Amino acid sequence: MEINQREFKLFQKLIHDEFGISLSDKKRALVQARLRKWVKNLKLKNYTELYEYFLNDKSELFLLADAITTNVTSFFRETSQWEYLKSYLFTCKEKKLRIWSSACSSGQEPYTIAIFLKENLKDFNSWDIKILATDLSEEILKKAIKGKYTKKELEGLTKSHLIKYFTKTNDFFRIKKEIKDMIIFKSFNLVTGNYSIFKNRFNLIFCRNVMIYFDKKTQLEVVSNLTKLLHNSSLLLLGHSESITNKVNSLKILSSSIYKKE
Ligand SMILES: C[S@@+](CC[C@H](N)C(=O)[O-])C[C@H]1O[C@@H](n2cnc3c(N)ncnc32)[C@H](O)[C@@H]1O
Repeated sequence: MEINQREFKLFQKLIHDEFGISLSDKKRALVQARLRKWVKNLKLKNYTELYEYFLNDKSELFLLADAITTNVTSFFRETSQWEYLKSYLFTCKEKKLRIWSSACSSGQEPYTIAIFLKENLKDFNSWDIKILATDLSEEILKKAIKGKYTKKELEGLTKSHLIKYFTKTNDFFRIKKEIKDMIIFKSFNLVTGNYSIFKNRFNLIFCRNVMIYFDKKTQLEVVSNLTKLLHNSSLLLLGHSESITNKVNSLKILSSSIYKKE
């Protein structure tokens, strides 16, 4: 079944309003391909009915974003950032770190942060560390919370990481409790979410490989909201292809993907 132009425009606007995700007119075939199975499974007559279905139950909307975006992620993604972060750790005056992985997907990013800190803080046990991991998608968060991965999904980790931080069962590797306990998982929409719920500021905010879905205006709003939640001299980390140039006043560019709050 074909999505007509009027229906495509309805979804285009809904996806933009709810997630800040911009879909060009060229994405009509993609939207149709991703939504077709719902029309079929829900036994709907057309895409207009599917649109009404999502409007009636907004709690299901994240499924729509799930269908349009990708959850691709990996351990120790953006290699150069981890090198930079080693030097950042030396600049911390207090042994206290509050870190937010704000589009955490299936968990590789927050688990990398936890493993990185275990490996790089010599007196690790004397640090007060909390990692918040959020994503729009409740579905992907379930996988993140499980912390159970196939061998292929462990790309980026060394053999030593696997031995120290995972337990192997059959064909799966499960993250150990000591790592999982460092992280709190919650759902949060970076575009429509209420940023005033965050009472404390962060030392590091990871917002990587999600900005690409947002239009320029939304990107700036998100970055500005995140920046307000950073301590001075703290860092915002984006994906390497997501440079925001220097449009946010209090942010200094350290590299194309690392920004420091001044
Ligand atoms: C490509 S993954 C990036 C994962 C990880 N940050 C990384 O760099 O490997 C993008 C993630 O962004 C999430 N996402 C998309 N729109 C979002 C939004 N408005 N708020 C929060 N998360 C969002 C998706 O659900 C997906 O899990």
